[in-house]
Amino acid sequence: MCGITGIVTQNRDDIGALLVMCSRKLTYRGYDSVGVAAVKDGVVNLRKDVGTIDDVDRALGLSKMRGDRGIAQLRWATYGAPTKVNAQPHFGCTEDFYGAHNGNIHNFAEYRKELIDTGHIVRSENDGELCVHAVDKYYEQTDDMFEAVRLSTRDLKGAFAFAVGRADERKIYAVKMGSSLVAGVAPDATIVSSDLPSILPLTNRVVYLRDGEMVVLTPEEVKVYRIEDGRELDRRPEVSNVDPHAAEKGGYPHFMLKEINEQPQVARDVMGVLEGAKSDDWLRLIEDASQKYLVACGSSYNAGIVGTYYFNRLAGVPLIPVIGGQFIPMYGNALKDDSLCILVSQSGETKDIINVLNLVRDTGRGKTLGVVNVIGSTLMFGADAYIPMACGYEVSVPATKTYFSQTIIFAYLAARLGERNGTLDPSEAKRFVGLLRDDLPRLAQTTIDRTGILTKNLAQTLMNERDLYCLGYGFTDGVAREGALKIKEICYNHCEGMYSSEFKHGPLSIVTDNYPVIFVTTREDSWMVINHINEVRARHGRTIVVGEYEESLSHYVDRETDYLRVPESDVLINPLLDVIPLQMLSYYLSVDLGINPDLPRNLSKTLTVD
Ligand code: BG6
Repeated sequence: MCGITGIVTQNRDDIGALLVMCSRKLTYRGYDSVGVAAVKDGVVNLRKDVGTIDDVDRALGLSKMRGDRGIAQLRWATYGAPTKVNAQPHFGCTEDFYGAHNGNIHNFAEYRKELIDTGHIVRSENDGELCVHAVDKYYEQTDDMFEAVRLSTRDLKGAFAFAVGRADERKIYAVKMGSSLVAGVAPDATIVSSDLPSILPLTNRVVYLRDGEMVVLTPEEVKVYRIEDGRELDRRPEVSNVDPHAAEKGGYPHFMLKEINEQPQVARDVMGVLEGAKSDDWLRLIEDASQKYLVACGSSYNAGIVGTYYFNRLAGVPLIPVIGGQFIPMYGNALKDDSLCILVSQSGETKDIINVLNLVRDTGRGKTLGVVNVIGSTLMFGADAYIPMACGYEVSVPATKTYFSQTIIFAYLAARLGERNGTLDPSEAKRFVGLLRDDLPRLAQTTIDRTGILTKNLAQTLMNERDLYCLGYGFTDGVAREGALKIKEICYNHCEGMYSSEFKHGPLSIVTDNYPVIFVTTREDSWMVINHINEVRARHGRTIVVGEYEESLSHYVDRETDYLRVPESDVLINPLLDVIPLQMLSYYLSVDLGINPDLPRNLSKTLTVD
């Protein structure tokens, strides 16, 4: 996830300061690299480098750049390492065109080749640069910037938004094709940006945009057009009353709730990256390995547990899940030349994971495949190959959207592996991948919408519970562990996540009248989970169920609040959705307890210590 900002002023000359002031509000969208293209007297001055906006401003004087218009971009690298040349904005073939994008261009590889083969000078490995070349290409054909921008979108596949300008024209054009984009009208300038926070320092007169629309910024006004036919749309500015500070959280009270709500978009983005990538390299790494370890910590480990069930079911491939710190004492000596360690770490810096990365490298035994969100991290550079999680910057300490991305990656890889090794019929693999791409984002949104009030109400009834269990079975094993971890992390309760069939072998002794036990279910396993529910109810425990509504289960909850229902879905999609009510339950319980879920005590987003 990146952040773009474009501004056209009437007669100001301090465009650098304006762009830095507004772009800084998008820091949560990425801080791998930053750049500003400022236009003065028809000449584009482009400065960019790796680092945060403050680092690069100090080094290159971004806020001192003169001009009356320009574009800035904060990059969160997904494809193409965070380097100066890959930083945005970019020029076209010449310095007449400048622009920047946010999102993913799925046909990046083939389109980049097509542009180069037709004589374009493509300087970087960054997909954003192709947006500028696409406009350059159609400008050559039409000599009309509006048409060039409109037609350029036909070449670009994926979910993205970009802003572009010509050096000799006091306008900026921007298109919205699947990534966020919003515009604004100030007394002496107009602005377009990835998010509202960077509009508000300039104006609260906001022009909201929809996918398939483009805007043209002149010094005085913002005009909105439909990309398909170029027809102008009557879209007037609206006054936004969002508090600028809250806006950095997208209007949410906490980053955690914002990031939970970003999960439908994460599903779209990560599927876009997976289907657009050369995943065969990853699949071959997995296929060629005799032992396949899945090594991770915290939420990443819980996602990995979910992954082991998908790998078994869809591909008949056994993954050995190992907690990061356990790997060396437990399996370090067992590493073979054809072992594979799938190292799952959103930060790519967790020391327990880096220790394993170093062991494999130093012993030369085995290979590593990283599943990583932070591009440019130690894990990304150190692994033999890496799968980008494409979630954008996760601010809140408790992981939500990064866990969600990881489970989708494992489900996708399992289906592709199963198709390749014959465990899964190609039509079934196609159907399931289609559900991940086409249904999951919508179902995730429906789950968020439906379980908001349910989890708020349930949280109220758990306010005084200091101890509870969260149990899963089969595919929901990892989901229940993740739900328990969330409650531990941000409610400071003791909540044990474990396998429901194991509960009777000891832990059941804790159950007394009204002791709360959460059961996370899917349609496939509810026949078994009902036994475990009754073991608790026979001892007068309180049973809370998370999952699709099933009449057979409804007899085992004593109050409306105790059934967190997720929408009906394919039984293999269910486990991906079941985590959402647990994320929201922990969030509302945390807030009710007066805790800031974004910054829970004693914890840190990334532990780079042993
Ligand atoms: C912990 C974080 O420190 O590290 C968790 O608080 C996270 O949220 C865990 O799941 C693992 O982090 P990573 O970056 O290796 O996925």
